[in-house]
Amino acid sequence: MVNVSVTNRIGDILAPYAEAVNTAMVSALCDEAVPATLAEAMRYACLNGGKRLRPALVMLAAETVAEKEHWLADSLGAAVAIEMVHCYSLVHDDLPAMDDDTLRRGRETCHVKFGEAMAILTGDALLTRAFEVLSGGFADAGIAMKLIGTLSAAAGPIGMVAGQVADMELCEVPPGDEGRRYIHLRKTAALLQGAVRMGGICAAANEAQLDALGEFGEKIGLAFQAADDLLDAVGSAQAIGKTPGKDAQTGKRTYAGELGIEQTRQLVTDLTDQACRALETFGPRAEKLRELTNLLAKRDR
Ligand code: IPE
Ligand code: IPE
Ligand code: MG
Ligand code: MG
Ligand code: MG
Repeated sequence: MVNVSVTNRIGDILAPYAEAVNTAMVSALCDEAVPATLAEAMRYACLNGGKRLRPALVMLAAETVAEKEHWLADSLGAAVAIEMVHCYSLVHDDLPAMDDDTLRRGRETCHVKFGEAMAILTGDALLTRAFEVLSGGFADAGIAMKLIGTLSAAAGPIGMVAGQVADMELCEVPPGDEGRRYIHLRKTAALLQGAVRMGGICAAANEAQLDALGEFGEKIGLAFQAADDLLDAVGSAQAIGKTPGKDAQTGKRTYAGELGIEQTRQLVTDLTDQACRALETFGPRAEKLRELTNLLAKRDR
């Protein structure tokens, strides 16, 4: 059953960040030098109703570290870049050679609409453009370099790509909890952790603050993927905008599949509590981030 009040409240919290990111993404994706069909496919993959959680986490983390009126503007380049990387990851994740999905964000997937070759190239283009945005988006070159290092590590062959390789059973993963944790930590938590660390970097966080944000990002990232697995198991296509039941059908190593629904719900609750505890050092400044974290545990999309 759809929990309207949770969905609406998550929407309320994310809305200002989502709006700013959507506007900035439209201009980052408007470039007459890009071949027309590629440009269309890039926009199709990005401007299509995603929740914009990762960019919101960048900006919320910056707000949590330090008070400033213009975080939204000052961390926007980092927010746009990480959402482009996320959108690329979804386009590739849906490909026939990977999860072979036909529905994404309530519409046909990029490869169904534009063909497989164009979808691969669209992912390539979004990933590389993300780093172009970072390299040109900050007055302080030192901050840009740190953001580039953080995003590339989170998304690359020790981060998200490693998780996708393990998820596709292209490398050995230990059985049981340890293996599931290996996969979830990399394929999803790495990017969420990257998002909050990038927000911290924008706000000139010190090492202790970056560590606290990293701990928070790991826990919220694991909770987020466990909740995604739950939604695949019990959600409806209309609510989640994806085809449900795919994980079981394709034998994915999910918490929901291996531990059952109730134990997975408990795990999401425990990870959410651990995520909130990691924010204690920020005191009341972290209130909005904490509220969002608690709501995400009950999300239905
Ligand atoms: C889906 O992410 C893929 C996962 C890593 C779980 P989101 O649930 O954030 O997808 P969008 O961006 O809202 O479509
Ligand atoms: C997402 O995992 C991991 C990515 C890096 C995109 P899933 O394969 O579970 O994501 P959905 O369910 O297709 O959104
Ligand atoms: Mg996948
Ligand atoms: Mg998938
Ligand atoms: Mg999933």
